[in-house]
Amino acid sequence: MASIGEGEPRADFNAQGTSSASQGSALGGWRCPRWALVDRGSERAAIDDLLERVRRGLSGVLVLRGGDGVGKTRLVDYAVEAASGFRISAVAGIESEINLPHGAVHQLLIGFLPLIDDLPVPQRQALQVAFGLTAGPAPEPFLVGLACLTLLSRAAADQPVLTIVDDVHWIDAESALVLGFVARRLYADRVGMLLTVAETGVPPAFRQLPTSEVGGLPADAAAELLRSVTGTPLEQAVVDRVVADTERNPLALVDVGSHYTAEELAARAYQPVPIPVGRQLQDRYLHRVRRLPREVQEFVLLAAADVSGDRDRVAQAATARGIDAEAAESAAEAAELIEVSGTRVRFRYPVIRAAVYYGASDAERRRAHHWLGQASGSRGDADGQVWHRAAAAAGPDEDLAAGLEAAAWRARDRGASPARAVLLRSSVALTPDPGIRALREVALARAELANGHPGTAQEIAGDALPQLADSSARGEAKVVIGDALFAQGRDVEAAEVLADAATALAADPAASADALLAALDAAMWAG
Ligand SMILES: Nc1ncnc2c1ncn2[C@@H]1O[C@H](COP(=O)(O)OP(=O)(O)O)[C@@H](O)[C@H]1O
Ligand SMILES: [Mg+2]
Repeated sequence: MASIGEGEPRADFNAQGTSSASQGSALGGWRCPRWALVDRGSERAAIDDLLERVRRGLSGVLVLRGGDGVGKTRLVDYAVEAASGFRISAVAGIESEINLPHGAVHQLLIGFLPLIDDLPVPQRQALQVAFGLTAGPAPEPFLVGLACLTLLSRAAADQPVLTIVDDVHWIDAESALVLGFVARRLYADRVGMLLTVAETGVPPAFRQLPTSEVGGLPADAAAELLRSVTGTPLEQAVVDRVVADTERNPLALVDVGSHYTAEELAARAYQPVPIPVGRQLQDRYLHRVRRLPREVQEFVLLAAADVSGDRDRVAQAATARGIDAEAAESAAEAAELIEVSGTRVRFRYPVIRAAVYYGASDAERRRAHHWLGQASGSRGDADGQVWHRAAAAAGPDEDLAAGLEAAAWRARDRGASPARAVLLRSSVALTPDPGIRALREVALARAELANGHPGTAQEIAGDALPQLADSSARGEAKVVIGDALFAQGRDVEAAEVLADAATALAADPAASADALLAALDAAMWAG
């Protein structure tokens, strides 16, 4: 059992947690959040109410119920902060210790055990046996519960007490019985009890207690959390995509926000593959997928690999793959993984899609994209075809790289500038010839500059420069570098590079004149 602290209230009670024991508990990862608590007004009010009741001499119980990563433990942290003047005793349920009889309740009461001698003899004996302090016949659960109740109310005689059990679904059955008994009988004891529990499998002992359901965050709060985790500005479209793909689950948001830079996120947000979410969530859903027949799993992977959720395309790819698409679709729907409506197939939750996609091996994913690319081609969807073929590619391929470049131009014509950068990036990665690759890199650098990433633009164009033989191509690369330097406020260097570019572009008088003007402009700013 992970003791998460007993004593004075403090914001970070990891310091007193037995760190080895708290490994693997829901409390494990994030004890000292660097970002502020967002939203949760009603849950906080429920916690505040509970604390207020106890301060006034009454008692109270509150259960916070919700799925993995919705922020139950974070709310426990809030309660600890808010419980000034309280004596706090907290434990976290751990899956591996679920078979340790009375383990959780023993941990919870360990700080109060000096009071045990004052208990009525039968209660004292019951507790001592339950906690393995003395040998004896197994005590009545009722008696152990009563002893805990007495102990807690005695402890609260000179200071209000807050007991916390995080993840009660992981505590041993004996402790659950005892704590359920106590929770039901707390009245005017100055004892508060805060419990958190998973959304499914609530132990019977904790049903019908006052419960606050904790779900995903509201969209604006989710965006705020994501922004504070990444710590850098993010484009609205990127935020929207991540918020949607994570179902506004705080853990998934924290996971995504802390594992990717703003630029990586931007690149992923425009790709036709899901944004990866937290491992924990992923594993949970993957477990459900793995129980399905092989064919259904393959069908679900095809659906996951197709961002547009085009039901026909997925069915066509499945059929080409030799899967009975209709049967597989029904099975996946019956398993509550996907929902189909008209021409769309969508995942019940976006996180399921990510779990399926990232749970598959690289080879399986590429195979899925291969079939989807073929299906797109036969339907005359050039963009879809090139996306999927690129995702299916195992190595450089000029044909494909050229196709991606053409799709990038189409994206530019639609005003989809970020998509253009993503397409060009894939195109560059798949281009076998260094000279051609350098030309595409200059186009990519220009797209990055247009997207407001001058540092990246400068770097890419700078890397391309030595590979460019042709003078006008070098001139173009220098224009991008000069513009990128200028955008970063490096006016003197910008003026120099742009003047250089004007010379290199001599064969194209208009372009050369433009570069010269830009150089003069930069020189003026430089003073
Ligand atoms: N309302 C919130 N504001 C800011 N961060 C949050 C919020 N809720 C959860 N988090 C963060 O999300 C992650 C998962 O939350 P956690 O409390 O561990 O979830 P749970 O206990 O429900 O599995 C943690 O990093 C936590 O700090
Ligand atoms: Mg937790």
